[in-house]
Amino acid sequence: MNFSLSIDRAACIMCGRCVRVCPSRIFSLSDEGGRHIATDESLGCIECGHCVDVCESGAVRHSLFGHDKRHAVDRELLPRPESLLELIRSRRSNRAFRKEPVPRESLDRIVEAAHLAPTASNGQELEFVVITDPEHLGTISRYVMDKFSGMLRILKSPVIRTVVKMAAPALWRYVPRFERMKAAYETGYDPVLRGAAAVVFICAPEKSRFGCQDANLAYLNGSLMAESLGVSQFYTGFVCTAASRDRHGKLERMLGIDGRIMAGMALGMPAFGYPYYVDRKPLDVKYM
Ligand SMILES: Cc1cc2nc3c(=O)[nH]c(=O)nc-3n(C[C@H](O)[C@H](O)[C@H](O)COP(=O)(O)O)c2cc1C
Repeated sequence: MNFSLSIDRAACIMCGRCVRVCPSRIFSLSDEGGRHIATDESLGCIECGHCVDVCESGAVRHSLFGHDKRHAVDRELLPRPESLLELIRSRRSNRAFRKEPVPRESLDRIVEAAHLAPTASNGQELEFVVITDPEHLGTISRYVMDKFSGMLRILKSPVIRTVVKMAAPALWRYVPRFERMKAAYETGYDPVLRGAAAVVFICAPEKSRFGCQDANLAYLNGSLMAESLGVSQFYTGFVCTAASRDRHGKLERMLGIDGRIMAGMALGMPAFGYPYYVDRKPLDVKYM
């Protein structure tokens, strides 16, 4: 345990909020030696800081979250539900990029927003790798195209072709798509990163249990921040597929990434914006 936790009894107003919010149930009401809030750190703090954030009187003393680590929520800055919904509705995967870099301050804010997404058991074990070097970006696309060309060769071999067509038609549907991508790549167009000026890979340790879920939530936070900053982005699904099919983590090694790529965002400045958004499929929801 690398933290200390205590209640400042003089400041505590006994509201019991810390007792209610702590996911590890570290706090409890005690009558021993006068009514007070007792703590039992042996129950395993996940370091979420809820106890500190919820305490109006500042009585919870957590060594990981001193005064400099706690900030008052500025309610004036919060978006109205309509603004938030309009941002969510109008966010598109705009792949039409201008040939110019994404400002560093924008990348910083996108990564910060992604980093603030919830993580399983507050693990916060994601690593963000921001790639802007054109050579590295080229390496990523080449790696994906090599991988897909290999898959295409296997899928089209006479025996496999028959089996896949019958047993996995959904996979077979990718064949013409891969073929189109390959043809485009050979003419000099990059169908993987589509001329993006930056890629943010969201990576988790090899053995992470919820790395994939954590990374995808982080992606969504980052993508909404990108939209609000006027930066275009799309999810790098082809890269993630290629990387996840490689047991040896070759792409990660080539890029000097310690963990595994779980999600990714290709970014660039938009050539133009979208003045409209279409309706998505009707909402399929069941209240029970
Ligand atoms: C898991 C996932 C993988 C994706 N992979 C790619 C990709 O490799 N390339 C691409 O251009 N777009 C990719 N996308 C973007 C989707 O095509 C896009 O989100 C979808 O068409 C809906 O459009 P919208 O994001 O503008 O609402 C991916 C999206 C998701 C969620």
